[in-house]
Amino acid sequence: MNPQMTSSEIRSKFLAFFEKRGHVILPSASLVTPDEKGVTNATLFNTAGMQPLVPYLLGKPHPQGTRLVDSQKCLRTVDIDDIGDKTHATFFEMLGNWSLGDYFKKEAIAWSFEFLTDKKEGLGLNPSQLYITVFEGDANAPKDDEAADIWREIFKKNSIDGNRIFYMPASMNWWEAGENGPCGPDTEMYYDISNKFGGKGLTHDEFVQADSVRDVVEVWNDVFMQYEKKDGKIIGTLPKPSVDTGAGLERLTMTLQGVDNIYDTDLFKPVMSLMKNPDQTIRNKRIIADHLRASTFLISDGVVPSNTDRGYILRRLIRRAIISTTDKLLDEKRISIFVDTITGVYAEAYPELTTKKDHIKKVFVDEASKFATALAHGIKEFERLAKAGSISGADAFMLFSSFGLPIDVTKELAQEKNLTIDIAGYEAEFKKHQDLSRSGAEQKFKGGLADANDPQVIKYHTATHLLHQALHDVLGESEGGQKGSNITPERLRFDFSYGQKMTDEQKKRVEDIINEKIKAALPVQNVVMPKAEAEKTGARHFFGEKYGEDISIYFIGDSLESAYSKEFCGGPHVKNTSELGTFKIQKEEASSQGVRRIKAVLV
Ligand code: ALA
Repeated sequence: MNPQMTSSEIRSKFLAFFEKRGHVILPSASLVTPDEKGVTNATLFNTAGMQPLVPYLLGKPHPQGTRLVDSQKCLRTVDIDDIGDKTHATFFEMLGNWSLGDYFKKEAIAWSFEFLTDKKEGLGLNPSQLYITVFEGDANAPKDDEAADIWREIFKKNSIDGNRIFYMPASMNWWEAGENGPCGPDTEMYYDISNKFGGKGLTHDEFVQADSVRDVVEVWNDVFMQYEKKDGKIIGTLPKPSVDTGAGLERLTMTLQGVDNIYDTDLFKPVMSLMKNPDQTIRNKRIIADHLRASTFLISDGVVPSNTDRGYILRRLIRRAIISTTDKLLDEKRISIFVDTITGVYAEAYPELTTKKDHIKKVFVDEASKFATALAHGIKEFERLAKAGSISGADAFMLFSSFGLPIDVTKELAQEKNLTIDIAGYEAEFKKHQDLSRSGAEQKFKGGLADANDPQVIKYHTATHLLHQALHDVLGESEGGQKGSNITPERLRFDFSYGQKMTDEQKKRVEDIINEKIKAALPVQNVVMPKAEAEKTGARHFFGEKYGEDISIYFIGDSLESAYSKEFCGGPHVKNTSELGTFKIQKEEASSQGVRRIKAVLV
């Protein structure tokens, strides 16, 4: 092992190793996933190296050939509450090599072993500290004896003894990017960073225990992509079996640099050492380092703080970093030092960070100042409430929801004044709010929108409103009411009340009306008003459905009064019906007693 190896060297060595073996080096794709994504890619950010390559793993020819290698920027917010421990990060880099229907298990495994252990071209890790897991098999796919045999052969050839290959269930050794897309069994490589086991091999139970206390850490994953999933079910095998591998640069660096956490590696050390205050907890320091690094990369990839989607994630990261500082403040000078340090770490690998440094600083400064204003208002409001002698759960929650004052800050302020806070009450309010916003989100997606960011889904959502109105036009006001809706990027599905099969003529009339409205290039607009007023507009809504006090109405036409269609709806919609293309009913069938179902497409 070479403890001197830097993270930059590990990255370059990885790329060079695979380039020498016929792979083309790709630049990292943006953290931001393209908006014209299909169902396979319904995340806001790239969360794994394979994500930008999904179409090619599914069979589309890649312009650079069948062997690729890169270090991909990734962002995962699912573990945001774990940040502060030894190994989690929101932003990370994933080193990966791919075979697109080219080599398979034998070469992939041999090269993984060679890169990890070779002293010259690879990392020079000690092969007798390596442990391997393979897929044990289930109803979907057989036990991966092939991968296990390849590993056994390699260990034998290198005279490495002991039991070090473990069969694991799908929860551990099956990889997929979600409900849809390419997937398959994988083999994972673990390294004994504790160096406790002396290369003697481990029993299955000993290995599981060592993993749980992080004496061994996963350093690389080779996925053997053989199947395709749709809506959570395997629908067939891929045209050609492929390989997708992923090694977290942060973890590899930690392993190589002989430290037990990613924050002590050269990727984080310069940033960590900016925080010298002994009162600062190590957890908070790590949160600040992680969130500011992730935010720097997000801003560089074009994200700006806002209250929705990607912008909201960025806002949350920046504000959480600020709250984690001892004085809840990041002034321009400190921002500048942090950004200089972070961009300095990546000067070689991501020179664009340095080029965009001024912009990055500006976005941080603007957001920090907005947050400071909100906090100052919150503190003032706290002072006002404090006069009553105690802070109720509802007050504490209001300080958080309206002013962004986190409960920890409110607690501190209360302590200074010797006031009590009803924490249980606060938590109850918080939960109530979560449930509400969840049902708000469901409201927004009532149409069963598979992905409200997908432009195709948005088009189908507007088409659904047109269809709803056209059905009333053709079937009568007491018929055609919405009973259900489900939208994917490929089609819309709409269930409505009607007791019999629609005639061909009725279907044709519905199509004609909708296509006429599309041709008329009507604007799609949104107004928000109090519920009592909204109910008077005649906009369609669901009786018995719970709506909030302020209602959002989407209407299609020049004004609310003259609109062709109006509905209580949270959106999103296209701006103009001319964006929709041509509407075509593909199927009209019974759904249940008195309910029919239409499937339609825009072509
Ligand atoms: N796609 C695989 C992973 O993320 C390599 O682990």
